This record gives sequence, C-alpha cells and structure tokens, in this order.
Amino acid sequence: MKIGIANDHSAVEMKKELVEYLEGKGYEVVNYGTDSLESTDYPIWGEKVANAVASGEVERGIAICGTGVGISLACNKVRGIRAACVSEPYSAQYSRLHNNANIVCFGARVIGIETAKMIVDYFLETEFEGGRHARRVNMIMDIERRNAEKPE
Ligand code: RB5
Repeated sequence: MKIGIANDHSAVEMKKELVEYLEGKGYEVVNYGTDSLESTDYPIWGEKVANAVASGEVERGIAICGTGVGISLACNKVRGIRAACVSEPYSAQYSRLHNNANIVCFGARVIGIETAKMIVDYFLETEFEGGRHARRVNMIMDIERRNAEKPE
C-alpha cells in the first residue's frame, strides 16, 4: 500500500520515525514534508497530503501537527477527504470500520511515538465495514456536494 505523510514543524521527528517504521513493514511512503524545524503553516502540508489522497496518488494519508486538530481541519477542506483526528488506537480503528477515513491525523505534542505507531497500524490494517456505515458516510459526502454547489 502506498501511503502519504505530511506534517508541520512540530512533528518532523515523529514523522521521520514513522516513515522508518512503515517502510520497515513494507509500505511505500511518500513524504510531502516539511522536513524543516522552522515554523511553518500546517494548512500547506495538510492540503498537500489531502490532494495526494484525493487524486489517488497515494491510497491513504497520515497528517501530523502539534495537536492534529489544525492539520485535520485543513485536510477535510479537500473534496473527497475524510480525515480523522485521533489520540488513541480505538478511534483510529473505528475511523476505518465505521467512517472509512482516508487520512488519520494526530498531535506530536499530544501522543508519544509508540501510541502513534499503534494508531497507524490500526488505520492501515483495518477495512471499512460498509453496510449501514456506508449510508452514513454517503450522507457526509452529500453534505460536501451540497455545499460545493453554494455560491461563496
Ligand atoms: C503550531 O505551533 C501549532 O499551532 C500546530 O502544530 C497545530 O497544533 C495546530 O493545530
């Protein structure tokens, strides 16, 4: 599976460790940056990985900032994206089972590397359950479609 990963300055070290971890497990990982510790704006990096997921360039995405909140908000502005901001593995698992999330987000200032590894494992290894959950996910995407039609 081809995975995209992106982060702001607060998560450079965590991103590096996760890339190494995931490559060690055989995933192909595309790094959309940043690799600099200089202060930067998380929407830039969220949009990059979200576009890569939305276009099919990568199958799933991982986005990290200080809290995970800002970058998840940015990712969710890209059409077709369902980015889940989580802090523990249970929500990561259910973001796949019930929400068909295609990007997982978390905060490098909130969780440690071992929790981050568990989160990405559940996120990447869990399939969407479908059924009644598909109806609900379709309802989310309908909100996106209805709002895309609204004038600015
Ligand atoms: C950067 O200081 C911080 O605001 C950012 O990483 C993130 O936590 C925003 O939601």
